[in-house]
Amino acid sequence: MRATSQLRVHLLLRLLLICFYLLSILTFAAAGVGDKLEKGQNLTDGDTLVSAGGSFTLGFFSPGASSKRYLGIWFSVSNATVVWVANRDQPLLDRSGMLVFNDLGSLVLQDGSRRTVWSSDFSGSASAAVVQLAYSGNLVVHNGSSDDASLWQSFDHPSDTLLPDMKLGKNLWTGAEWQLTSWRSADDPAPGDHRRTLQTTGLPEIILWYLDVKTYRTGPWNGIYFNGVPEARGYADKYPLLVTTSAWEVTYGYTAAPGAPLTRVVVNYTGKAERWEWDARRSTWSNLFQGPRDPCDDYGKCGPFGLCDPDAASSGFCGCVDGFSIPAATTPSAQTVKVTTCRRHAALDCAGGTTTDGFAVVRGVKLPDTQNASVDTGVTLEECRARCFANCSCLAYAAADISGGGDGSGCVMWTSAIVDLRRVDMGQNLYLRLAKSELDDHKRFPVLLVAAPLASVVIILLVIIAIWWRRKHTIMGAIPQKHSMAVPIVSLAVIKDVTGNFSETNMIGQGGFSIVYKGQLPEGRAIAVKRLKQSVLTTKGKKDFAREVEVMAGLRHGSLVRLLAYCNEGKERILIYEYMQKKSLNVYIFGNVNLRASLNWARRLELIQGIAHGIAYLHGGSGDNVIHRDLKPGNILLDDEWKPKIADFGTAKLFAVNQTGPEQTIVVSPGYAAPEYVRQGNMTLKCDVYSFGVILLETLSGRRNGGMQSLLSHAWRLWETNMIPGLLDTTMVPLSESEPELLSKLTRCIQIGLLCVQETPCDRPIMSAVVAMLTNTTSQIEHPRRRPPLDCEGSVPTYSSHGLETEVLSPTTIDLT
Ligand SMILES: *[C@@H]1O[C@H](CO)[C@@H](O)[C@H](O)[C@H]1NC(C)=O
Ligand SMILES: *[C@@H]1O[C@H](CO)[C@@H](O)[C@H](O)[C@H]1NC(C)=O
Ligand SMILES: *[C@@H]1O[C@H](CO)[C@@H](O)[C@H](O)[C@H]1NC(C)=O
Ligand SMILES: *[C@@H]1O[C@H](CO)[C@@H](O)[C@H](O)[C@H]1NC(C)=O
Ligand SMILES: *[C@@H]1O[C@H](CO)[C@@H](O)[C@H](O)[C@H]1NC(C)=O
Ligand SMILES: *[C@@H]1O[C@H](CO)[C@@H](O)[C@H](O)[C@H]1NC(C)=O
Repeated sequence: MRATSQLRVHLLLRLLLICFYLLSILTFAAAGVGDKLEKGQNLTDGDTLVSAGGSFTLGFFSPGASSKRYLGIWFSVSNATVVWVANRDQPLLDRSGMLVFNDLGSLVLQDGSRRTVWSSDFSGSASAAVVQLAYSGNLVVHNGSSDDASLWQSFDHPSDTLLPDMKLGKNLWTGAEWQLTSWRSADDPAPGDHRRTLQTTGLPEIILWYLDVKTYRTGPWNGIYFNGVPEARGYADKYPLLVTTSAWEVTYGYTAAPGAPLTRVVVNYTGKAERWEWDARRSTWSNLFQGPRDPCDDYGKCGPFGLCDPDAASSGFCGCVDGFSIPAATTPSAQTVKVTTCRRHAALDCAGGTTTDGFAVVRGVKLPDTQNASVDTGVTLEECRARCFANCSCLAYAAADISGGGDGSGCVMWTSAIVDLRRVDMGQNLYLRLAKSELDDHKRFPVLLVAAPLASVVIILLVIIAIWWRRKHTIMGAIPQKHSMAVPIVSLAVIKDVTGNFSETNMIGQGGFSIVYKGQLPEGRAIAVKRLKQSVLTTKGKKDFAREVEVMAGLRHGSLVRLLAYCNEGKERILIYEYMQKKSLNVYIFGNVNLRASLNWARRLELIQGIAHGIAYLHGGSGDNVIHRDLKPGNILLDDEWKPKIADFGTAKLFAVNQTGPEQTIVVSPGYAAPEYVRQGNMTLKCDVYSFGVILLETLSGRRNGGMQSLLSHAWRLWETNMIPGLLDTTMVPLSESEPELLSKLTRCIQIGLLCVQETPCDRPIMSAVVAMLTNTTSQIEHPRRRPPLDCEGSVPTYSSHGLETEVLSPTTIDLT
C-alpha cells in the first residue's frame, strides 16, 4: 500500500514537471512582451512584463551605482523610478536570477544555483493560474478570471512607494498592517530606518518614523484632508484621498482621476515623505508635497503645550498655548537644557463634578497628536464641549470632522499632554481647558463699554494723562534719553475700548507671538493694535519692552511702519501702529492673477526701491546700525499708495527663549536667511542684504524661494545662461517689444538682486550701495557670481561699536568671541 502510493506521488510529480517544462518552452517567447506569467512559466534577467496601458514594467534591475540585481516594478517612462522591490534585502549577485511561477501557485525568485532568495510566501492554491502585472502597477496572482479577488498581490507588501489604489493602515480582521519603509540609500533597496504608517487609534493620521521615534505627522484626518496638509486640497481633484474607518479596516489611500498624470507617494531614504507627479512635457518628476516642510513639522518640537509658529523664525519658532509659558531659566545648568517646557500659569479647578474652568480657543492649528485621544464622531461640537467640561481629565477638545462646514462636528478629547501643535494655513480650532483667571477678560469689564461720546472724552483725557505721565517719568531718568521721541503710552482701558474689548470681529491677524486687532479711533482713523502674547514674552523681554519701544520709535522713515503708541500695563505689552488696508507684499506677489496684476512692473520697481531705502535707513541712515533680522514679504506692509512700510523691526528679540552660550536656537526664516547665518548663526547687516535680495527676486518672479532655495538656483541658472528675463512673473501681461527700457530696468534690478544673494557676505553690497544702484540706473554694476572664487571671510564687516548697539542687537545674537 505504502509503496504504491509513494510511486503514485512520484509519477504525479514527474508528470507535473514534464508539463511544467513543456509549458515553459511553449511560452518562453511570450514572456517579455505580455503582462502575465502562467503557471510553470518563468522570467529571466532581461525579460520584462509590461502592464496593460504600459505604465509599469516588471523585471530585474540594478539600483543606482550598485551592480546587484533585484526583481522590481518601475515606471516605464522613468526606469530609475522603482516602486516595488521583491528581494529587498536578498540581492542577487549576478544576472542568473529567475522568477518562477511554480505549480503550487507561488512566485519564487531563484538565484543561479536555483536556491530560493525570495518567495511570495503564499501557500499556493490550486486555483492560482496567472500572475499578472495589472494596469495599476499591482502584481497580482489570481485564478485566471481577472475580475476575481487576488490570491496574492504586491500592493499588500508595499516597499517605499504608495501608488493610486494602494492602502496604508490596518486590516483589523487579520491584524495585517500596510506601511511604507524607505530604502537604505539610493543604491540599496533594503528596508531603511524611515517608515510611514497610518496611526489607527484616535483619528487616522499618517506618521513618519525614524526607527521608533515619530518625526512628522500629517495631523488628523478631518473628513476632507489631513489637517496639517492643506496643500492636499490643491491636488485632491486629480488624486482624491480616501480614508476608510470600519470594523474591518482603518486605511488611507488615494486614487487617480482619469487622465491625471502618473503620481507616487514615497518615503525617501532622506527621511522625507514626498508626493511626486510625472511631468510628461519635461520628462521629469515634479514635487507636489514634501514633509516635514519646516522646523514646526518636527514632531513635538515645542514640547507639551508648546505651539510652533513657522513665521516666528526670529524667536526660535516656539511658544506656548495661552495660559502657559516657558519659565525663565534661573540656574546656569537649567540654561543648557535645550528642551523648553511650557508650564501652566494657574492650576485647573475641577473636582467632584464642579468646576470654574473654561475654554480658550487656539485658532488655526494642526491639531495635537490624537494617539491617546478619545473620539466620537456621532456628537455635535456643543455636546463635545459639555462632555469635556464635565470630565476633569479632559484637557482640550476639537471637532473631529469639518467636512460639513461651520465649526465642524464630532468630538476629539485629549486627556494627556497636548503634543505637536503648530500653526498651519486653514488650520482648525482647538478648545483648551484653562483656569478661570487665565481666560479672556471678555465679560469682566462691561463697565468700559460705555456710550461712544463719553468714551471719546475718556480716551482723550487718558491719552493726555498718559503723555504727561510719560514725560514726567522720562525726565526722572528711568529711561535712556537718546531716542525718546515721546511715544504716547495708552492705557489698557483705552485700547480695550477702541478694539471692542479685543473682540474677535476686530481680529485681523495672528502669529505665534501676537494677535493683531483693528482699532477705530473716535475721530475715525483706523489703527493696528498688536497685542503681544504674555505667554511667550521672556521676563527680560517684558522688562526691556519700554526701552525697545523707545528705540523703535526713534526710527522714523517713510518706508518704515510708524509706531503711534504703546501700552505697558500690568502683564500687557501692546504696540499701536498705523493701519494698512492693503495688508502685505506677499498677498500680491504670490496671490491670484488679479492681485498680481495690481502691482504692475513700474510699481514693483518702486516698491523694491522703497524697501531698499527703508533697510538702508535701518542700517545706518538713522545713525544706528539696526539689523532687522526677519525681512520677508509678510513683513512689508503696503499703504494706500502702494508704498512699502517695513514692519516688525526690533520686536523679535522681546520673545526670544532665554538662552545663552553655544546652545542657542538658530533663527531661520526658511528661504530668507543668509547661508552664513544658517550655518554659524552669524548675524550681520549683510544677512538683511541677503533677505532683501530674496525679496527682490520674489517680487519680480512671483515665486517663493522657500527652504529649498528653489528660486535662487533657478535665477542663477538663468543668469549663467544669459536668460534673465525668463525669471519675470509669467502671469503678468507680457512686456511688449516697445518697452525695451522697462525690460532693461527689470534685468538690471534682477542683477542687483543676485549681487545681494551672493554666498559670501563680503561680496554682497551694503544697503546704501544697493540704493545707489537702484536709483542711478546708468551706473556700471558688478557681475554677481554664484560661487565666488575668493574667500574673504576675514573681512566680514561688522557694525560700528555704537552706544546703542547693545540695545538694538538682541540678547540672542550669537556672541562670536
Ligand atoms: C525557464 O524557462 C526556460 C525557457 O522556457 C527553460 O529553458 C528553463 O528550463 C526554465 N527554468 C526553470 C527552472 O523552470
Ligand atoms: C533606462 O532607460 C534609459 C534611457 O531610456 C536606457 O538607456 C537604459 O538602458 C534603461 N535601463 C534599463 C535597466 O532598462
Ligand atoms: C475563479 O474563482 C471564482 C470564485 O472564486 C470563480 O467564480 C471563477 O469561475 C474562477 N475562475 C477560474 C478560471 O477558475
Ligand atoms: C529622494 O530624495 C533625493 C534627493 O532629493 C532624490 O534625488 C531622490 O530621487 C528621492 N528618492 C525617491 C525615491 O524619490
Ligand atoms: C500615548 O500613550 C502612550 C502610552 O502611555 C505613550 O507612550 C505615548 O507617548 C502617548 N502619546 C501621546 C501623543 O501622548
Ligand atoms: C473622562 O474621560 C476619560 C478619557 O476619555 C475616561 O476614561 C473617563 O471614564 C471619563 N470620566 C467620566 C467620569 O466620564
